[in-house]
Amino acid sequence: MNVKNLRLINFRNYNNVYLELDDKLNIFIGKNAQGKTNLLEAIYVSATGKSFRTNRDRELINFNKKEAYIGSKVQIGEREKLIEIKLDRIAPKRIKINKLELKKQKELNSGLNVVVFSPDDLSLVKGSPKERRLFLDTSISQVKPVYRYNLNRYNKILIQRNNLLKAGKSKKDLVNLLDIFDMQLVKTGTDIIISRFNFIDKLSKVALNIHNRLTLNKEKLLLNYDSSISFKNLNRQEIESSFIKSLKENRYKDMLTGSTSTGPHRDDMKIYINNMDSRTFASQGQQRTIVLTIKLSEVEIIYKDTGSYPVLLLDDVFSELDSDRRKYLISFFKNTQTFITSTDIENLDELMDSNPLMFTIENGNIKYKE
Ligand SMILES: Nc1ncnc2c1ncn2[C@@H]1O[C@H](COP(=O)(O)OP(=O)(O)O)[C@@H](O)[C@H]1O
Ligand SMILES: [Mg+2]
Repeated sequence: MNVKNLRLINFRNYNNVYLELDDKLNIFIGKNAQGKTNLLEAIYVSATGKSFRTNRDRELINFNKKEAYIGSKVQIGEREKLIEIKLDRIAPKRIKINKLELKKQKELNSGLNVVVFSPDDLSLVKGSPKERRLFLDTSISQVKPVYRYNLNRYNKILIQRNNLLKAGKSKKDLVNLLDIFDMQLVKTGTDIIISRFNFIDKLSKVALNIHNRLTLNKEKLLLNYDSSISFKNLNRQEIESSFIKSLKENRYKDMLTGSTSTGPHRDDMKIYINNMDSRTFASQGQQRTIVLTIKLSEVEIIYKDTGSYPVLLLDDVFSELDSDRRKYLISFFKNTQTFITSTDIENLDELMDSNPLMFTIENGNIKYKE
């Protein structure tokens, strides 16, 4: 799969640009704050319908404009698709695929998978559980669209349950209503738990190998699903009954706080290196390597699940890696279309053999470089 061309109108700091892209390697060189991340963001938006930097579509529209447009022609297997996204300051976004408007704009499944590598990824190891849930949710949704649907449903039920808890405990019918919400929460929540467990299980196996390779067998990496619902076997009934039990046990406490204290919205993924929790014990360097491992594992899993490698977006990370890691990363590029941004061409020598298409970015203007 690959992106063939891209048209941006009033997207962030771009006025009107059109790019024909290389189906292997594209490199964008530009100083800080010129639009490098914005460009990768635009590619991400055409694939997924949303940004990896913000949940507010409005931020993507140029400060001085009312609407923005992102159009891209993508190749997925034998098929070509024209993906068009219109963002409006006041109206919901509109998405068209081959000129046909999608009914549910929230659920763009272009068939184009992307994996972003960014300096912010460090929060995957260092950050709060929320960051890791976000990683799990976006990664799983890419290979399993029904997951996104379940997640949205779960979040809606959760809000309703919390509102009910907040409404006050004096109401007589509260208990009956809570029973109903609890049942619904458990049904969808269990789907989420099972999907996450399976994903982390797969990810952990792939990551172990990649991490061995990156650390010359010095570090053993293990990923574990840390769920607030306890279960021994990945058995739907067992998880459901444990979940319902946990909701019942915590109901009084939940009423006092007006929130739901257990469930997948409180879960986490633990990352261990040589059996130590990497969030607290790993050095900055080790954490960087872990992030690289996890991202590359995600790439492999998308390949395993869909039969094609995703498009790679490397935002300001490639030239920061040591030469050994750069070489390893390059071995992934053979199978994929890759976009790399960098502030200078230093440390990009190894890429020149691949005959990349080079661009320069300056203040929202993109030019082909020699
Ligand atoms: N909605 C927007 N409208 C216009 N300019 C924007 C918008 N959002 C961000 N920018 C500008 O884009 C620039 C940052 O672009 P970015 O791609 O993050 O830079 P970098 O090249 O460092 O990755 C900043 O100058 C910022 O003011
Ligand atoms: Mg940037």
